[in-house]
Amino acid sequence: MKIAVIGTGYVGLVTGTCLAETGNDVICVDIDAEKVEKMKQGVVPIYEPHLDVLFERNIKAGRLEFTTSLDEGLAHGDIIFLALPTPEDEDGSADLSYVLKVSEDIGKKIDNYKVIVDKSTVPVGTAEKVRAVIAQNATTDFDVVSNPEFLREGYAVDDFLKPERIVIGSSSERATRLMQKLYSPFVRSGNPIITMDEKSAELTKYAANSFLATKITFMNEIANYCEKVGADVDKVRVGMGTDSRIGKRFLFPGIGYGGSCFPKDVKALLHAGTLVDYDFKILDSVVEINQIQKQILIPKITAHFGTDLSGKKIAIWGLSFKPETDDIREAPAIDIMNSLLDLGAELTVFDPEAMPNIRKQFGDKLNYANGMYDTLEGADALVICTEWSIFRSPSFSRVKELMKSHVIFDGRNIYQVDEMANEGFKYVSIGRNQ
Ligand code: UGA
Repeated sequence: MKIAVIGTGYVGLVTGTCLAETGNDVICVDIDAEKVEKMKQGVVPIYEPHLDVLFERNIKAGRLEFTTSLDEGLAHGDIIFLALPTPEDEDGSADLSYVLKVSEDIGKKIDNYKVIVDKSTVPVGTAEKVRAVIAQNATTDFDVVSNPEFLREGYAVDDFLKPERIVIGSSSERATRLMQKLYSPFVRSGNPIITMDEKSAELTKYAANSFLATKITFMNEIANYCEKVGADVDKVRVGMGTDSRIGKRFLFPGIGYGGSCFPKDVKALLHAGTLVDYDFKILDSVVEINQIQKQILIPKITAHFGTDLSGKKIAIWGLSFKPETDDIREAPAIDIMNSLLDLGAELTVFDPEAMPNIRKQFGDKLNYANGMYDTLEGADALVICTEWSIFRSPSFSRVKELMKSHVIFDGRNIYQVDEMANEGFKYVSIGRNQ
């Protein structure tokens, strides 16, 4: 099939590349000429495992092309994916200006039947708005489909190629059939393509992300309570998670959820509720608790050192909002580092992928190490903010040799409490006996 993807952010790029992988002819459109030039030369503009291999293969095969010309994209694609940013407005709502501006252009430019697919996370009612904007100018038939994505950063290629489900929201049989055909190679294992109306599809995405954010937040509260009563959240988590109604995943407590999705989507759903006089009380609490949780290590650190950290050298392992990404949007590490800097600490940091992004934001306020051990020279404490695999089994003897005092604050519970006691560390983690 002939596909155009408008917007080559994270979602657009993964969508375009993976659709090319199953033999479609894909053209990706972006207004950033420099980025388009680099992508034409095979440079993947984001860090996402496995994307580079697929990218190169499909460019070579001539199935994946890039352009700055919307006209070219629209002339090429029978199915046009909108993968445009929907940033958070000041009031928490999703800003639809990019989506609606491109929709207006689409209406003016298309001259044969097209399916326009909303891939961005958009509030309920957006498909209707997109349809209305296109219809103002369109001289031809078209359909609008809501097709939310459920990709996780770091696993996006796998999630796209082997999705647990595909959601297609459309009131047009013709468009639904086309979309089912497009996605059928990805669900050979029997996973469902679920069809529904546009509004329900739009809400499915917000509901799923808000539910997962709530699930994590609930466990964070259980972990905080465990500390008060001397229970161990690891044991509680396993005890609960083996109930298949609850499930084992997304029950890991820590220093709060971050990223470009959960924080934005929870706030957007909250805001959308207010527009129809609905008060999502649970989501209000989720936002508030997560903000507190992002700082949960700070009182633990000041309980040990006092509130004046001047002269204290603190090593930070992990800066991205989660492993396997260089994304630092809403990363808890940022909140933690800002608080530690405010208290006077000197910070030496390391992350396998996110160092360039952190350097852009923090400049010379931090020391940037070349490797994880390089952060530890003379350190008074180590703070772990992201559970990258390389941090999971370090040489503790080397860690001890380098650190001035053997204190670890672990925001991701990556070590066993008794193991750390045996190694001779003061080890403080989240929701466990220590
Ligand atoms: C999330 C969803 O998982 C995807 O399904 C969705 O498509 C995506 O948002 C999106 O809307 O585009 P992502 O933000 O990439 O994906 O990352 P997750 O793996 O979901 O993690 C989000 C945050 O929750 C991270 O900060 C992570 O550390 C935290 N988390 C996750 C926990 O604190 N505990 C857990 O048990 C799981």
